[in-house]
This record gives sequence, structure tokens and C-alpha cells, in this order.
Amino acid sequence: MINAEITGWGKCMPPNVLSNHDLEQIVDTTDEWITTRTGIKERRISHVDTSEMAYVAGMRALSAAGKTPEDIDLLIVATCSGDSIIPSTASIVQKKLGASGAAAMDLNSACSGFVYSMVVASNMIKGGANKTALLIGAEKLHYVTDYTDRATCILFGDGAGAVVMEATEEPHGVMATDLGNDGTIYDLLQVPKDGTMGEPGQRDPQMQAISMQGQGVFKQAVTGMAESATISMGKAGVGLEDVDLLIPHQANVRIIDATARRLGLDDSKVFVNIHSYGNTSGATIPVALTEALEQGRIQPGSTVVFAAFGAGMSWGSMVYKWGSRVDPLATPEIDLPPTDQTTMDILSANFDFFGMPEKLA
Ligand code: COA
Repeated sequence: MINAEITGWGKCMPPNVLSNHDLEQIVDTTDEWITTRTGIKERRISHVDTSEMAYVAGMRALSAAGKTPEDIDLLIVATCSGDSIIPSTASIVQKKLGASGAAAMDLNSACSGFVYSMVVASNMIKGGANKTALLIGAEKLHYVTDYTDRATCILFGDGAGAVVMEATEEPHGVMATDLGNDGTIYDLLQVPKDGTMGEPGQRDPQMQAISMQGQGVFKQAVTGMAESATISMGKAGVGLEDVDLLIPHQANVRIIDATARRLGLDDSKVFVNIHSYGNTSGATIPVALTEALEQGRIQPGSTVVFAAFGAGMSWGSMVYKWGSRVDPLATPEIDLPPTDQTTMDILSANFDFFGMPEKLA
């Protein structure tokens, strides 16, 4: 029977850092408040477009798999902050990669986007439509972040991660999946007028930034991730004792802790890197997977559970049995173009559009 397995992985985090101490200079907040309420210490702010981070992460994943861009027949970019709506960001990434033989599409289910992409790609591979897919989660969330709003600007960051998925007949790979969405509560988290909800030509800063009902999202997140992971584990016939690592979406360390408690999973089996990057939406899962492999947290034969939730409100999970290779086949000499800009230089465009934060005025 054909299954889908992950054969390559990589990440691309832009170099500019926005720390909690930097945010103390911008809004009325403290490192202590952000750390205790979210677990976040710093996040990255990109000087390039989403597609450029996606390209670098994608090339790194392809190298790790021993593949070239010509080898892929499917390219999915999970993003809710892509370069453009038309064309898809995946089309721009395809051009940068030179992946001329691939079908290409964006997949937007916000922070669940990467798990959604893995489910879609693995089913296309299992069904025989595709053999080798490159899946990239990439976000430039600072673009839709209002740095006068202390409730949201502390949470989000930029970055990209990617995996290569290939067909296999070996007894490992995707074991079970679950996806869901509840559109009746879509307004818990939104960029209200980022699309056709706005009037043509209208530029309304208040409506073009992320707005969020934090506590409502928090509750949905814990329930969504824990229930979905339980469903996938049930389908896979996997008990808690069989799980080696949970890789959850990184939105808030308290959400991650509450999810693990609800599942009854020990902290030592949960991967957390939110302190370094904040919430990078579609990118958190592939970035976390890459770092889990780099840190030896995944071993041959490990059972890994992925779980995510996001705007929509969407959720999804996957139980995955790792194969024998936990090291990349190669690491390419590729990186983002360097920049002389400071983090504040990059954010100045946000200040101009959304409003100058009081502390900087
Ligand atoms: N610094 C200091 N104080 C802050 C603050 C900040 N950055 N942001 C909010 N506050 C204040 C509030 O104004 C409020 O003050 P008040 O009591 O005087 O009104 C107080 O802190 C508590 O606010 P509240 O919203 O109840 O805090 P919380 O414990 O729910 O934490 C979030 C807020 C946003 C961290 C939390 O709700 C959360 O993480 N929600 C999920 C968000 C998420 O994951 N989004 C992405 C989904 S993919």
C-alpha cells in the first residue's frame, strides 16, 4: 500500500529580532507580562517578502531530501500573509525554485494551514495523483500587525518552514489525520477588510490589522487541538504511552501546556520553541519539526503527533510514524539576502500606516 512520508525538512527565519524589551519601548507592556502570559521572549521581523522566506526554506527541505526543484510535482504554500492573492504565493515560489513540473497552490486555513497541507498532500500521494510534494508554511505576519495594539502585537512573528513528502511503500509515514473548522465563530480572529469585504480603494488601517478576542481564541485552541489529536490517535490505534513527541502549533505556551494537560501527556513529550519566534501561523509546525529533528527529539521509528488550530476557527491533527532517517542528506549554501535595516526601520512602514505607537510619538 502506498503511504506518504516526510523525507526532507528545513526552515528560514529572518535575521531581525523584535524582543520583549524592544516592545517595552513601543507599547505599554513588560517582558514579565508577555513571558508569563504567552511564553514568548522574541520574534523575527522579515525584510523580505513571504515568498523569499518560503523559497529558502523550500530549498533547504529539498536538499535535506536529496531532491531538486525539478523532482517535485506538487507545491503547496500554507500562508495567510502571502505576497499577493493573485497570483498565489506558491506561483511566485515556483518561479524562484524553477519547479516547472509542479502543480502549485496556496492553502489558507490560517495557523492550521500546514497541518491542512500535510493532510491534502498525503492524500494526493496515497491516491496516486502525486509522488513528490514540497509543502511550505511561510508568513510575514508583521505586515498585518498594528503596533499600537498591545493585545496582538506581542504575539506574532515572521518565518518559514518546509517539508518534502514522498510516496513510500515502507511501513511508516502518515498513520491518521483529522481536520475541522467552525465558521460560525470566524470573527474571533480576523483581518476584517483584507479582501472583498472592503470597499474598492478604501484603506482603513483599523480594518486591515489582525483583531482578536484573545480569551475566546484561547478556549477554542485548547479544545480544538486536544480533541483533534484524540480523534487522530484513536483512528491510528495509538495510545498516549505510544506518543514520543507532540508538535503543537506555537501560539501561546499556556495553550500548549493546557492542551498537553487535557491529553494527559507529559511536558517532556511536547515540543516548544515559541520563546524564540512567537506565533508564525502556518510556519510554526514545519519550523518546530525541523528544530525537533536538529535537537534529536525525533528518533527512527518515533511516533509524532502534530496538532494545530487557527483562524476560521480551524483545527487539525496528524499521527505520524517516523522512518529510519533523521538526518538531512545535504544542507545547501543558500540564505536570505543580507540587510542593513534595523527591526525598527522595517516596522516604520507599519507605524506610518496603522499609527505611531504612543511611546514612539
Ligand atoms: N501587556 C500588558 N498588559 C496587557 C497586554 C500586554 N501586551 N495585553 C493585554 N493586557 C492587559 C489587558 O488590557 C487586560 O487589562 P485589564 O484587566 O486592565 O483590562 C489584562 O492584560 C488581561 O487581559 P486578557 O486579554 O484577559 O489577558 P489574557 O490572559 O487572556 O492574555 C492573550 C491575552 C492574548 C495572551 C491570550 O488571551 C491568548 O493568548 N489568546 C489566544 C491568542 C492566540 O493564540 N491567537 C492566535 C491564534 S492562532
